[in-house]
Amino acid sequence: MTTTTLLFSPVEADLQLLTNNLTELVGARHPILYAAAEHLFRVQGKRVRPAIVLLISRATMSSRREASKGQEEIKSKHRRLAEITEMIHTASLVHDDIVDESEIRRGVPTVHNLFTNRVAVLAGDFLFAQSSWYLANLDNLEVVKLLSEVIMDLAEGEIQQGLHRFDTNLSIEAYLEKSYYKTASLIANSSKAAAIISDVSPEQAQNMYYYGKYLGLAFQIVDDILDFTSATESLGKPACSDLKSGHLTAPTLYAIAEKPGLEKLLERELAQDGDLEEAIQLIKDSNGIARSQELATQHAKMAVKHLDSLPDCDSRISLINLADYVLSRLY
Ligand code: IPE
Ligand code: IPE
Ligand code: MG
Ligand code: MG
Repeated sequence: MTTTTLLFSPVEADLQLLTNNLTELVGARHPILYAAAEHLFRVQGKRVRPAIVLLISRATMSSRREASKGQEEIKSKHRRLAEITEMIHTASLVHDDIVDESEIRRGVPTVHNLFTNRVAVLAGDFLFAQSSWYLANLDNLEVVKLLSEVIMDLAEGEIQQGLHRFDTNLSIEAYLEKSYYKTASLIANSSKAAAIISDVSPEQAQNMYYYGKYLGLAFQIVDDILDFTSATESLGKPACSDLKSGHLTAPTLYAIAEKPGLEKLLERELAQDGDLEEAIQLIKDSNGIARSQELATQHAKMAVKHLDSLPDCDSRISLINLADYVLSRLY
């Protein structure tokens, strides 16, 4: 946590306000929501997405006035956008954990594990619906379009992932496309939306989109590496779970080309005793993890390139450092 606290320092106060506002927005008006609220408020995640929205909000606001060196105040719409972004993210996690049959998230039992699938489906739906309501109330059609596309993309990503279980012919390009839908779309479109609320040029807004897109892809590649290299206790969610569920991510896809035995194990869907352990060992013995780290690094570098047009300010520095954090994070 210390790393992100330092990293997010230009928006630390904003993030504190965000936590308070989220409690108020989602509230505990409905018993179904108690479950999801647990994840939103009591056990917070890393808050990477709202931090990016707030940092881009600050950086683009100060880019509007060339002469000003001080921190420009952000608008209340920026704050609301950051809240909506975290709400959509949390809703997608509640649903993702049902699909993946994951028992823990952020170090505590998942909503469906604690209650039932029925409660978790409704809690996720409720969060998506509420985020759409707050989104519409931003009264900015362009922003509404960007964020509603994200909600469509999240569903598309989960469907693509489901269709390609144990598909050993999956290409890295198709894996990246799925990762865009599942993860990068939210970061890219909320980054662009923050720039639009600041009223900057369309080119500048598009640069922010690309920053979010490439950073989001790097984030997901690293998440997929951590699934192999980290322990459940440090991740706060089950380790080694992607392969078990048939999700072939970058480390596995690279390893398939190197280790012929792996394909055989995956084709029989790791059905025999010891298959999973053997497959994990083959992946760890291959260059799959190193090549995935390289792929993540390339994407993080592309993200940073799109920050060139931002003015020199603390928020821009944080956005640059965030790319290093994404590559070196441990959970
Ligand atoms: C988890 O996102 C889902 C992925 C896109 C990998 P985070 O790792 O940001 O989850 P929290 O919000 O910190 O729990
Ligand atoms: C990202 O993918 C999940 C969503 C965007 C909903 P993962 O399936 O890798 O996320 P984790 O590992 O469960 O957090
Ligand atoms: Mg998952
Ligand atoms: Mg994962």
